[in-house]
Amino acid sequence: MSRIAYVNGRYVAHGEAQIHIEDRGYQFADGIYEVAAIFRGQIIDEDGHLERMKRSLGELRMDMPMPEEPFRLVCRETLRRNRVRDGIIYIQVSRGVSPRDHPFPKDVKPALVMTARAVAWPENADDDKGAEVATVADIRWLRRDVKSISLLPNILAKQEAREKSAYEAWFVDGDGFVTEGSSTNAWIVDDQGRIVTRQLDNNILGGITRATVLKLARENSIEIIERAFTVEEALAAPEAFLTSTTSFIKGIVGIDGAEVGDGKPGPVTRRLRALYLDYCRGSGSNLA
Ligand code: PDD
Repeated sequence: MSRIAYVNGRYVAHGEAQIHIEDRGYQFADGIYEVAAIFRGQIIDEDGHLERMKRSLGELRMDMPMPEEPFRLVCRETLRRNRVRDGIIYIQVSRGVSPRDHPFPKDVKPALVMTARAVAWPENADDDKGAEVATVADIRWLRRDVKSISLLPNILAKQEAREKSAYEAWFVDGDGFVTEGSSTNAWIVDDQGRIVTRQLDNNILGGITRATVLKLARENSIEIIERAFTVEEALAAPEAFLTSTTSFIKGIVGIDGAEVGDGKPGPVTRRLRALYLDYCRGSGSNLA
């Protein structure tokens, strides 16, 4: 089946979709993005993604490219035209097209692009073999709370991790504390079974999966501590895991080649993964 992209008001064949060479997203990475998972026809945490998108836009002093209701309709139409029931939707908004010049151009319309594709999500909580991570210095800018399309440090970090046969990179700040993964949030479980993840501020992206996992933990009486942890602490912890829209919850079984816990996803991680999959399954279809 041919894929369809939404580009500035039109649905076009994916392979023929075009963006102007002076789009500020292309020239300056002057834009933001969102990625949401579609699970059995449902956009997981649609409201959360929309809220974060509005916040990212606001931080860059950009407007929503269209009012919320038509925006939601375009999301649905993009999914429908691509027949995606399990997969992802990618949304990107740039400041728009204008002759290259650093200051914000006047009277420019934001450019909106959406694509969707099918992904086969995990069916059961026990199929997670766990992932390795490799640590890298966090060399990013200090507004990591904005979901900016400027992802150079993230892709360099992910590439370095993959070259070391690791699934993910963990960014480590100047004081030895883990900030987050290159496209995931970072967690450990302490020796009392409490889950620990870095507090929200400008140093990390406020993950939507992170927020849902915290909510599920609260509802299931799993204690939460929001604070930074070091790599040494993670290595000594019984469990570590990561969260994101596309990875859901995944156990971390090794850091820089050293084993975490007993080298398998631990019980708290597996429980949270099961709760999260139930959450995805349980919310009913919200796509027409
Ligand atoms: N990445 N931290 C960073 C730096 C991220 O890029 C992401 C998401 C997350 C997790 O956020 P969420 O739970 O909302 O997906 C944390 C997306 C999936 C991506 O870039 O593809």
